[in-house]
Amino acid sequence: MNIKRLLENISDMARQHKDRGKVADYIPELARIDPAQFGISVCLANGEQHSAGDAATPFSIQSISKVFSLALALGRLGDSLWNHVGREPSGYAFDSIVQLEYEKGIPRNPFINAGAIVVTDAILAGSTPAETLGELLRFIRVAADDEDIHINDRVALSEKATGARNTALAHFMRSFGNLRNEIDLTLGTYFHQCAIEMNCAQLARSGRFLMNAEGSIIPRLISSARIRRINALMLTCGHYNGSGDFAFRVGLPGKSGVGGGILVIAPMRASIAVWSPGLNSYGNSKLGTEAMEIFAQKTGWSVFG
Ligand code: DON
Repeated sequence: MNIKRLLENISDMARQHKDRGKVADYIPELARIDPAQFGISVCLANGEQHSAGDAATPFSIQSISKVFSLALALGRLGDSLWNHVGREPSGYAFDSIVQLEYEKGIPRNPFINAGAIVVTDAILAGSTPAETLGELLRFIRVAADDEDIHINDRVALSEKATGARNTALAHFMRSFGNLRNEIDLTLGTYFHQCAIEMNCAQLARSGRFLMNAEGSIIPRLISSARIRRINALMLTCGHYNGSGDFAFRVGLPGKSGVGGGILVIAPMRASIAVWSPGLNSYGNSKLGTEAMEIFAQKTGWSVFG
């Protein structure tokens, strides 16, 4: 399998695609992004990396940051994290409030917004937002082996300015006693973590620790048991109410963000990052999902055999 050629073919197809989905417009800074972009990058367990298209263009990783904050929170709290957040797919949009009332302020999973706000609140406890964001950035920089990964403050402020829905989710959970810190501190940290920028090449490298590749050159940042659990959550919840569709079409764990990025893990084989800013109706990258479907078909990689 010539991965480099496959990525170039996929990138050429994406470039010619007419129906590119719709760029997220509820965060004004994201609404300005040109939808005519596509990048893809793959890190293999043997250390090789191949990229095509706009793989060096930085974008807002948004909800993909939830994978890294979850890894940190599990390191800090261990299994007691699961007292505050569930592990079931939600079947609702990423910013839905409806389930929270039925389930008494315990969000369904750590990847919907309410769940991610709980996870951020957990890693914030005992530190300042600046320390917590510093720790998160350090984790990502070590994972990616790249110091040049930063937060875009304009995007964070843009999300804060339009963050009424996330603020509502946070107050609602607070009323059930499921947030420990001041809401402004937790949300400020959450908005900044979502505003981390990476390009596809950096994002693919930052996901290598989730391959769980034995004896490879990749740094081991968390235990195998936790890697498997994070991958399980990415498969079942990583694309919100489009998670079943992504598992059906791609068959690999993945986490999407409204910036149009997707991080996909082929366990023991590869960490893959794809980016195209136009979204489908679930809020996941339209061309990114289509590209991953072709990639999985051509490589034959799947967690389902
Ligand atoms: O909380 C928000 O609305 C964004 N910062 C993150 C949402 C997101 O990426 C959902 N992804 N598809």
